[in-house]
Amino acid sequence: MIVLGIETSCDETAAAVVRDDRSVLANLVLSQIDEHRPYGGIVPEIAARSHLDHLDRLVARAMAAAGLGFAALDGVAATAGPGLIGGLMVGVMTAKAIAAVHGLPFAAVNHLEGHALTVRLTDGLAFPFLLLLVSGGHCQLLAVAGVGRYRRLGGTLDDAVGEAFDKTAKMLGLGYPGGPAVERAAAAGDAARFKLPRPMLGRAGCDFSFSGLKTAVRHAVKALPEGPVRDRDAADLAASFQAAVADVLADRCANAMTEFGQAHAQGATLVVAGGVAANQALRARLGGVAEDHGFAFMAPPPELCTDNAAMVAWAGIERLRLGLADGLDFAPRPRWPLEEATDST
Ligand code: KG4
Ligand code: ZN
Repeated sequence: MIVLGIETSCDETAAAVVRDDRSVLANLVLSQIDEHRPYGGIVPEIAARSHLDHLDRLVARAMAAAGLGFAALDGVAATAGPGLIGGLMVGVMTAKAIAAVHGLPFAAVNHLEGHALTVRLTDGLAFPFLLLLVSGGHCQLLAVAGVGRYRRLGGTLDDAVGEAFDKTAKMLGLGYPGGPAVERAAAAGDAARFKLPRPMLGRAGCDFSFSGLKTAVRHAVKALPEGPVRDRDAADLAASFQAAVADVLADRCANAMTEFGQAHAQGATLVVAGGVAANQALRARLGGVAEDHGFAFMAPPPELCTDNAAMVAWAGIERLRLGLADGLDFAPRPRWPLEEATDST
Protein backbone atom coordinates (compact mmCIF):
# COMPACT_ATOMS: atom_id res chain seq x y z
CA MET A 1 0.00 0.00 0.00
CA ILE A 2 1.36 3.44 -0.97
CA VAL A 3 -0.22 6.58 0.48
CA LEU A 4 0.23 10.29 -0.19
CA GLY A 5 0.14 12.36 3.00
CA ILE A 6 -0.58 16.09 3.31
CA GLU A 7 0.06 18.30 6.37
CA THR A 8 -1.17 21.91 6.58
CA SER A 9 -2.46 22.27 10.15
CA CYS A 10 -0.01 24.94 11.26
CA ASP A 11 2.96 26.72 9.65
CA GLU A 12 4.52 23.90 7.64
CA THR A 13 3.26 22.94 4.20
CA ALA A 14 4.23 19.29 3.81
CA ALA A 15 3.69 16.40 1.42
CA ALA A 16 5.06 12.85 1.62
CA VAL A 17 4.70 9.47 0.00
CA VAL A 18 5.05 6.41 2.24
CA ARG A 19 4.75 2.66 1.63
CA ASP A 20 3.36 0.16 4.12
CA ASP A 21 6.73 -1.61 4.39
CA ARG A 22 7.78 1.54 6.30
CA SER A 23 9.77 3.09 3.51
CA VAL A 24 9.48 6.83 3.02
CA LEU A 25 9.54 7.41 -0.75
CA ALA A 26 9.37 11.21 -0.49
CA ASN A 27 9.12 13.64 2.42
CA LEU A 28 9.03 17.38 1.68
CA VAL A 29 8.48 20.16 4.21
CA LEU A 30 8.17 23.82 3.29
CA SER A 31 8.51 26.02 6.35
CA GLN A 32 6.66 29.35 6.51
CA ILE A 33 8.95 30.69 9.23
CA ASP A 34 10.21 33.61 7.14
CA GLU A 35 6.65 34.75 6.39
CA HIS A 36 5.65 34.77 10.08
CA ARG A 37 8.93 35.98 11.61
CA PRO A 38 8.14 39.72 11.33
CA TYR A 39 5.08 39.12 13.56
CA GLY A 40 6.93 37.04 16.19
CA GLY A 41 4.46 34.17 15.83
CA ILE A 42 2.06 32.44 13.45
CA VAL A 43 -0.57 34.59 11.69
CA PRO A 44 -3.41 32.20 10.71
CA GLU A 45 -4.50 34.11 7.59
CA ILE A 46 -0.93 34.28 6.24
CA ALA A 47 -0.54 30.56 6.96
CA ALA A 48 -3.71 29.61 5.06
CA ARG A 49 -2.81 31.72 2.01
CA SER A 50 0.71 30.34 1.95
CA HIS A 51 -0.55 26.73 2.08
CA LEU A 52 -2.84 27.55 -0.84
CA ASP A 53 0.03 29.08 -2.83
CA HIS A 54 2.43 26.18 -2.32
CA LEU A 55 0.60 22.92 -1.73
CA ASP A 56 -0.21 21.86 -5.33
CA ARG A 57 3.40 22.26 -6.45
CA LEU A 58 4.74 20.57 -3.34
CA VAL A 59 2.47 17.54 -3.91
CA ALA A 60 3.67 17.36 -7.53
CA ARG A 61 7.29 17.52 -6.35
CA ALA A 62 6.69 14.77 -3.76
CA MET A 63 5.12 12.49 -6.39
CA ALA A 64 8.05 13.19 -8.74
CA ALA A 65 10.57 12.49 -5.97
CA ALA A 66 8.83 9.18 -5.32
CA GLY A 67 8.86 8.50 -9.05
CA LEU A 68 5.12 7.81 -9.08
CA GLY A 69 1.94 8.98 -10.76
CA PHE A 70 -1.31 9.34 -8.79
CA ALA A 71 -2.55 6.08 -10.34
CA ALA A 72 0.12 4.20 -8.35
CA LEU A 73 -1.34 5.37 -5.03
CA ASP A 74 -3.61 3.28 -2.79
CA GLY A 75 -4.92 6.20 -0.77
CA VAL A 76 -4.63 9.88 0.15
CA ALA A 77 -4.36 11.13 3.74
CA ALA A 78 -4.52 14.68 5.06
CA THR A 79 -4.40 16.19 8.51
CA ALA A 80 -8.04 17.11 9.23
CA GLY A 81 -7.44 18.55 12.74
CA PRO A 82 -6.66 19.79 15.28
CA GLY A 83 -5.13 22.99 13.91
CA LEU A 84 -5.82 26.28 12.17
CA ILE A 85 -9.03 25.96 10.16
CA GLY A 86 -7.83 27.81 7.04
CA GLY A 87 -4.82 25.55 6.57
CA LEU A 88 -6.79 22.40 7.41
CA MET A 89 -9.33 23.27 4.71
CA VAL A 90 -6.61 23.72 2.08
CA GLY A 91 -5.00 20.35 2.86
CA VAL A 92 -8.23 18.41 3.21
CA MET A 93 -9.77 19.85 0.02
CA THR A 94 -6.61 19.06 -1.96
CA ALA A 95 -6.51 15.48 -0.66
CA LYS A 96 -10.21 14.94 -1.35
CA ALA A 97 -9.84 16.28 -4.89
CA ILE A 98 -6.98 13.88 -5.67
CA ALA A 99 -8.91 11.00 -4.07
CA ALA A 100 -12.08 11.83 -6.03
CA VAL A 101 -10.36 12.21 -9.39
CA HIS A 102 -8.32 9.01 -9.06
CA GLY A 103 -10.93 6.92 -7.25
CA LEU A 104 -8.79 6.49 -4.13
CA PRO A 105 -9.82 6.09 -0.49
CA PHE A 106 -9.37 9.19 1.70
CA ALA A 107 -8.13 9.16 5.30
CA ALA A 108 -8.83 12.17 7.56
CA VAL A 109 -5.91 12.03 9.96
CA ASN A 110 -5.82 13.46 13.47
CA HIS A 111 -2.51 15.39 13.65
CA LEU A 112 -1.84 14.03 17.14
CA GLU A 113 -2.35 10.48 15.90
CA GLY A 114 0.28 11.26 13.25
CA HIS A 115 2.78 12.19 15.98
CA ALA A 116 1.67 9.21 18.12
CA LEU A 117 2.21 6.56 15.42
CA THR A 118 5.51 7.91 14.01
CA VAL A 119 7.59 5.40 16.00
CA ARG A 120 5.74 2.61 14.24
CA LEU A 121 6.95 4.06 10.94
CA THR A 122 10.53 4.65 12.09
CA ASP A 123 11.04 1.66 14.38
CA GLY A 124 8.11 -0.69 13.81
CA LEU A 125 7.21 -0.49 17.51
CA ALA A 126 4.37 -2.85 18.53
CA PHE A 127 1.38 -1.76 20.65
CA PRO A 128 0.96 -1.03 23.50
CA PHE A 129 3.34 1.77 24.47
CA LEU A 130 3.41 4.80 26.73
CA LEU A 131 3.53 8.13 24.90
CA LEU A 132 4.60 11.59 26.01
CA LEU A 133 3.20 13.89 23.32
CA VAL A 134 4.79 17.33 23.51
CA SER A 135 4.22 19.96 20.82
CA GLY A 136 3.37 23.62 20.37
CA GLY A 137 -0.27 23.13 21.35
CA HIS A 138 -0.29 19.88 23.30
CA CYS A 139 1.26 18.20 26.29
CA GLN A 140 -0.15 14.86 27.35
CA LEU A 141 0.71 11.36 28.51
CA LEU A 142 -1.20 8.57 26.78
CA ALA A 143 -1.37 4.80 26.91
CA VAL A 144 -1.47 3.80 23.25
CA ALA A 145 -3.15 0.39 22.86
CA GLY A 146 -3.79 0.46 19.11
CA VAL A 147 -4.82 2.64 16.18
CA GLY A 148 -7.53 4.94 17.54
CA ARG A 149 -7.13 3.47 21.04
CA TYR A 150 -5.68 6.13 23.32
CA ARG A 151 -6.13 6.38 27.07
CA ARG A 152 -5.15 9.72 28.55
CA LEU A 153 -3.14 9.43 31.77
CA GLY A 154 -2.65 13.16 32.17
CA GLY A 155 -2.19 16.45 30.43
CA THR A 156 -1.36 20.09 30.94
CA LEU A 157 -3.65 22.20 33.09
CA ASP A 158 -2.59 25.38 31.28
CA ASP A 159 0.18 25.89 28.69
CA ALA A 160 1.76 23.32 26.37
CA VAL A 161 5.52 22.75 26.70
CA GLY A 162 6.27 24.03 23.20
CA GLU A 163 4.32 27.18 23.99
CA ALA A 164 6.45 27.68 27.12
CA PHE A 165 9.61 27.29 25.00
CA ASP A 166 8.28 29.78 22.43
CA LYS A 167 7.32 32.37 25.07
CA THR A 168 10.61 31.98 26.90
CA ALA A 169 12.47 32.54 23.62
CA LYS A 170 10.46 35.70 22.99
CA MET A 171 11.18 37.08 26.48
CA LEU A 172 14.88 36.35 26.03
CA GLY A 173 14.94 38.01 22.62
CA LEU A 174 15.93 34.73 20.96
CA GLY A 175 13.34 35.07 18.22
CA TYR A 176 10.97 32.68 16.52
CA PRO A 177 10.62 29.70 16.38
CA GLY A 178 11.49 29.45 20.03
CA GLY A 179 12.18 25.81 20.84
CA PRO A 180 15.36 25.31 18.82
CA ALA A 181 16.60 28.81 19.80
CA VAL A 182 16.21 28.06 23.52
CA GLU A 183 17.96 24.71 23.09
CA ARG A 184 20.89 26.35 21.28
CA ALA A 185 21.23 29.12 23.88
CA ALA A 186 20.90 26.65 26.77
CA ALA A 187 23.83 24.58 25.50
CA ALA A 188 26.22 27.36 26.57
CA GLY A 189 24.37 28.29 29.77
CA ASP A 190 24.61 27.61 33.50
CA ALA A 191 21.41 25.79 34.52
CA ALA A 192 22.07 26.40 38.21
CA ARG A 193 22.19 30.20 38.03
CA PHE A 194 18.44 30.92 38.14
CA LYS A 195 16.26 29.10 40.67
CA LEU A 196 13.06 28.43 38.74
CA PRO A 197 9.99 26.52 40.02
CA ARG A 198 9.15 22.94 39.00
CA PRO A 199 5.32 23.00 38.89
CA MET A 200 3.62 19.69 39.88
CA LEU A 201 6.93 18.05 40.80
CA GLY A 202 6.39 15.31 43.38
CA ARG A 203 2.61 15.39 43.07
CA ALA A 204 0.60 12.24 42.38
CA GLY A 205 -0.77 11.68 38.88
CA CYS A 206 0.43 12.64 35.43
CA ASP A 207 -0.76 16.22 34.92
CA PHE A 208 1.46 19.13 33.97
CA SER A 209 1.48 22.89 34.49
CA PHE A 210 3.83 25.39 32.87
CA SER A 211 2.28 28.81 33.43
CA GLY A 212 4.05 29.32 36.77
CA LEU A 213 7.38 28.53 35.18
CA LYS A 214 6.67 31.01 32.39
CA THR A 215 5.82 33.70 34.93
CA ALA A 216 9.02 32.96 36.86
CA VAL A 217 11.03 33.44 33.66
CA ARG A 218 9.28 36.79 33.12
CA HIS A 219 10.19 37.93 36.66
CA ALA A 220 13.78 36.79 36.17
CA VAL A 221 14.01 38.77 32.92
CA LYS A 222 12.59 41.86 34.65
CA ALA A 223 15.24 41.61 37.36
CA LEU A 224 18.01 41.77 34.74
CA PRO A 225 19.67 45.07 33.77
CA GLU A 226 17.51 47.28 31.48
CA GLY A 227 17.77 46.89 27.71
CA PRO A 228 18.15 43.84 25.52
CA VAL A 229 18.93 40.62 27.38
CA ARG A 230 22.70 39.98 27.22
CA ASP A 231 23.91 36.71 25.67
CA ARG A 232 25.29 35.39 28.99
CA ASP A 233 21.99 36.03 30.81
CA ALA A 234 19.93 34.58 27.95
CA ALA A 235 22.07 31.43 27.90
CA ASP A 236 21.87 30.93 31.69
CA LEU A 237 18.15 31.60 31.82
CA ALA A 238 17.48 29.33 28.82
CA ALA A 239 19.51 26.56 30.49
CA SER A 240 17.71 27.08 33.83
CA PHE A 241 14.33 26.98 32.06
CA GLN A 242 15.18 23.85 30.09
CA ALA A 243 16.42 22.10 33.24
CA ALA A 244 13.14 22.92 35.02
CA VAL A 245 11.15 21.51 32.08
CA ALA A 246 13.32 18.38 32.05
CA ASP A 247 12.76 17.83 35.80
CA VAL A 248 8.99 18.20 35.42
CA LEU A 249 8.71 15.94 32.37
CA ALA A 250 10.90 13.27 34.00
CA ASP A 251 8.83 13.34 37.20
CA ARG A 252 5.49 13.10 35.37
CA CYS A 253 6.78 10.31 33.11
CA ALA A 254 8.00 8.39 36.16
CA ASN A 255 4.44 8.38 37.56
CA ALA A 256 3.04 7.43 34.15
CA MET A 257 5.47 4.50 33.82
CA THR A 258 4.37 3.17 37.22
CA GLU A 259 0.71 3.47 36.22
CA PHE A 260 1.28 2.00 32.75
CA GLY A 261 3.35 -0.87 34.17
CA GLN A 262 0.46 -1.89 36.44
CA ALA A 263 -1.99 -2.06 33.52
CA HIS A 264 0.31 -3.60 30.91
CA ALA A 265 2.46 -6.59 31.77
CA GLN A 266 4.22 -6.27 28.41
CA GLY A 267 5.14 -3.43 26.11
CA ALA A 268 7.21 -1.33 28.48
CA THR A 269 8.39 1.37 26.10
CA LEU A 270 8.31 5.11 26.75
CA VAL A 271 7.95 7.09 23.53
CA VAL A 272 8.34 10.84 23.22
CA ALA A 273 6.94 12.54 20.12
CA GLY A 274 5.89 15.98 18.84
CA GLY A 275 8.02 19.04 18.08
CA VAL A 276 9.50 19.39 21.58
CA ALA A 277 10.78 15.80 21.32
CA ALA A 278 13.39 17.15 18.90
CA ASN A 279 15.19 18.62 21.95
CA GLN A 280 18.34 16.57 22.62
CA ALA A 281 18.67 17.52 26.30
CA LEU A 282 15.08 16.45 27.01
CA ARG A 283 15.52 13.22 25.05
CA ALA A 284 18.62 12.35 27.06
CA ARG A 285 16.87 13.04 30.34
CA LEU A 286 13.76 11.03 29.43
CA GLY A 287 15.92 8.16 28.18
CA GLY A 288 17.58 8.07 31.60
CA VAL A 289 14.36 8.05 33.58
CA ALA A 290 12.95 5.31 31.30
CA GLU A 291 15.98 3.16 32.00
CA ASP A 292 15.56 3.71 35.75
CA HIS A 293 12.04 2.28 35.43
CA GLY A 294 13.05 -0.67 33.27
CA PHE A 295 11.40 0.87 30.20
CA ALA A 296 12.87 0.99 26.73
CA PHE A 297 13.01 4.51 25.29
CA MET A 298 12.21 5.64 21.78
CA ALA A 299 11.97 8.97 19.98
CA PRO A 300 11.62 9.59 16.24
CA PRO A 301 14.54 11.34 14.51
CA PRO A 302 14.23 15.11 15.09
CA GLU A 303 12.96 15.87 11.56
CA LEU A 304 10.05 13.46 12.16
CA CYS A 305 9.30 14.98 15.60
CA THR A 306 8.46 18.40 14.19
CA ASP A 307 5.54 18.66 11.78
CA ASN A 308 5.87 16.63 8.59
CA ALA A 309 3.65 14.72 6.17
CA ALA A 310 5.38 11.33 6.43
CA MET A 311 3.63 10.87 9.78
CA VAL A 312 0.30 11.77 8.15
CA ALA A 313 0.82 9.32 5.28
CA TRP A 314 1.80 6.64 7.80
CA ALA A 315 -1.26 7.27 10.00
CA GLY A 316 -3.28 7.06 6.77
CA ILE A 317 -1.73 3.65 6.00
CA GLU A 318 -2.47 2.43 9.54
CA ARG A 319 -6.11 3.50 9.23
CA LEU A 320 -6.76 2.46 5.64
CA ARG A 321 -5.36 -1.04 6.16
CA LEU A 322 -7.89 -1.45 8.99
CA GLY A 323 -10.65 -0.34 6.62
CA LEU A 324 -11.04 3.04 8.31
CA ALA A 325 -11.50 5.23 5.22
CA ASP A 326 -13.38 8.51 5.64
CA GLY A 327 -16.11 9.99 3.44
CA LEU A 328 -15.43 12.94 1.14
CA ASP A 329 -17.92 14.88 3.30
CA PHE A 330 -15.57 14.73 6.32
CA ALA A 331 -15.30 18.29 7.69
CA PRO A 332 -11.99 19.54 9.18
CA ARG A 333 -12.00 19.83 12.98
CA PRO A 334 -10.01 22.73 14.47
CA ARG A 335 -10.46 21.05 17.85
CA TRP A 336 -10.16 17.28 17.85
CA PRO A 337 -8.99 15.53 21.03
CA LEU A 338 -7.09 12.33 20.31
CA GLU A 339 -9.33 10.27 22.54
CA GLU A 340 -12.17 10.94 20.09
CA ALA A 341 -10.24 9.52 17.12
CA THR A 342 -12.36 6.73 15.62
CA ASP A 343 -11.85 3.54 17.56
CA SER A 344 -10.69 0.58 15.48
CA THR A 345 -12.27 -2.02 17.77
O1 KG4 B 1 4.77 19.28 16.56
P1 KG4 B 1 5.15 20.66 16.18
O2 KG4 B 1 6.13 20.83 15.06
O3 KG4 B 1 3.89 21.51 15.84
C1 KG4 B 1 2.72 21.38 16.61
O4 KG4 B 1 1.98 20.40 16.38
O5 KG4 B 1 2.55 22.23 17.53
O6 KG4 B 1 5.73 21.36 17.50
C2 KG4 B 1 6.16 22.68 17.45
C3 KG4 B 1 6.67 23.06 18.82
C4 KG4 B 1 7.03 24.54 18.92
O7 KG4 B 1 6.51 25.07 20.11
C5 KG4 B 1 8.54 24.53 18.93
O8 KG4 B 1 9.11 25.62 19.64
C6 KG4 B 1 8.83 23.22 19.62
O9 KG4 B 1 7.86 22.33 19.11
N1 KG4 B 1 10.17 22.73 19.33
C7 KG4 B 1 11.14 22.57 20.27
C8 KG4 B 1 12.31 22.17 19.57
N2 KG4 B 1 12.01 22.10 18.24
C9 KG4 B 1 10.70 22.43 18.12
N3 KG4 B 1 11.11 22.74 21.60
C10 KG4 B 1 12.26 22.51 22.27
N4 KG4 B 1 13.41 22.15 21.68
C11 KG4 B 1 13.49 21.96 20.34
N5 KG4 B 1 14.63 21.61 19.76
ZN1 ZN C 1 2.68 18.77 15.47
